[in-house]
Amino acid sequence: MSKYIIRGARALEGNVSISGAKNSVLPILASSLLNSGICVIKNVPMLSDTKVSLDILKSLGCKIDVMGNTVVVDSRTLENDKVCKDLACKMRSSIIFLGSILARCKSAKIYEPGGCKLGKRPIDFHIKALKKLGAIIEQDDDDMIVASLEKIKSCEISLPFASVGATQNIILASIFSDGKVVIKNSAKEPEIVDMVKFLRQMGADITGEGTDKITIKGVSKLKEYCEYTIMPDRIEAGTFLCMTAITGGKVLLEGANPNHLLYVIKELEKTGCSFLLKENEILCDAPKIIKPIKFLETKPYPYFPTDMQAQFVSLMCIANGESIIKENIFEARNKHISELRKFGADIKEKDNIFKINGKKEFLAQEVEAKELRGGAALITMALYIDGQSTINGASYIRRGYENIQDKLTSLGADIKYIKS
Ligand code: UD1
Repeated sequence: MSKYIIRGARALEGNVSISGAKNSVLPILASSLLNSGICVIKNVPMLSDTKVSLDILKSLGCKIDVMGNTVVVDSRTLENDKVCKDLACKMRSSIIFLGSILARCKSAKIYEPGGCKLGKRPIDFHIKALKKLGAIIEQDDDDMIVASLEKIKSCEISLPFASVGATQNIILASIFSDGKVVIKNSAKEPEIVDMVKFLRQMGADITGEGTDKITIKGVSKLKEYCEYTIMPDRIEAGTFLCMTAITGGKVLLEGANPNHLLYVIKELEKTGCSFLLKENEILCDAPKIIKPIKFLETKPYPYFPTDMQAQFVSLMCIANGESIIKENIFEARNKHISELRKFGADIKEKDNIFKINGKKEFLAQEVEAKELRGGAALITMALYIDGQSTINGASYIRRGYENIQDKLTSLGADIKYIKS
């Protein structure tokens, strides 16, 4: 099993460059097959999930060239409408290919997606919405979803919850309609805005991204050439902010967008961190003593992101008082709690509410990352602790953090990556 070995109790100091956003690049790669042409996508983070998306595109017949962080997708040669089980199971985002393949081929076959284990992660909103658009969708005993589409119906779809993935799938499936599709209660996350900007660059007619009402007017054709640069990863940036805070350091995040992190920054200010914000930079100066946060709960953007919950739990473990953090988005996003307790953290948990009693003394330990952000929270904690900790399950962390060991090393951390 691959792992990180960390010797903590070193304040992070210096500059670090934020990579392109994982949650943007995955839907944008899925969208890249729509133009039956060439897409040049820049600032692509080289993550294991990115590689799965590229493997899916290749399996569909696209030609892929990778040069550093630039990916060229040539979808003129697409010849297949099926995503095989092995690839679909590797990540949750594989489901976004359902909308794009359906729009391009008028048929799609894909399996139930895999991904981080955060409890039940149904795809009922996706399926219901695609059916309302006119798709015929059946599921066989082997979990294969078989979809076909003659013509997209002009319609209005109200999502029961502002689901990021369902919003993306509806947008992608509707690109070539000969009418208008309106999504109400659409997700407002910056990654939706990024995907829409990419599609607009390709020639799609979409308005309202970043609000709770998105309108897609169908176009008959997209441009055969398109270039796009992926936005910075706000969750990677937020994770580095928590790591800076927990180690009492001072770090400049380069290439970060502070506007995407206003809620996270506001909460970190409550802990005593001070910030200097510029257009593409965030300077975080952490205090010697972290103050607790009375109550913090996860909600869809622009509020506190579920993808930052675990890292904040780690930070609150060292605060001088009691904090309460509530998870509202996923039913079982708590796999980090038992591992943090192994370090000595005092956390009580009931109904997705974590009551954290901050303390100062922790013991270096061997722990296990069981999902991506929970894994980042364990690294965060280990960076604080005086002694050598081992974080097993590094493959989860590598799904979402590009070169995390090199970036942390450049900030003065002692961290090694051991490949299994
Ligand atoms: C995306 C992000 C993920 C983030 C999450 C919430 C990507 C690749 N992943 O995941 O990092 O944590 O948004 O911000 O962008 N739901 C249903 N039925 C559905 C779809 C969703 O019940 O058909 C529920 C989910 O179980 C969850 C909630 O809605 O409780 C939010 O899920 P959603 O916004 O769809 O998350 P993802 O798109 O999977």
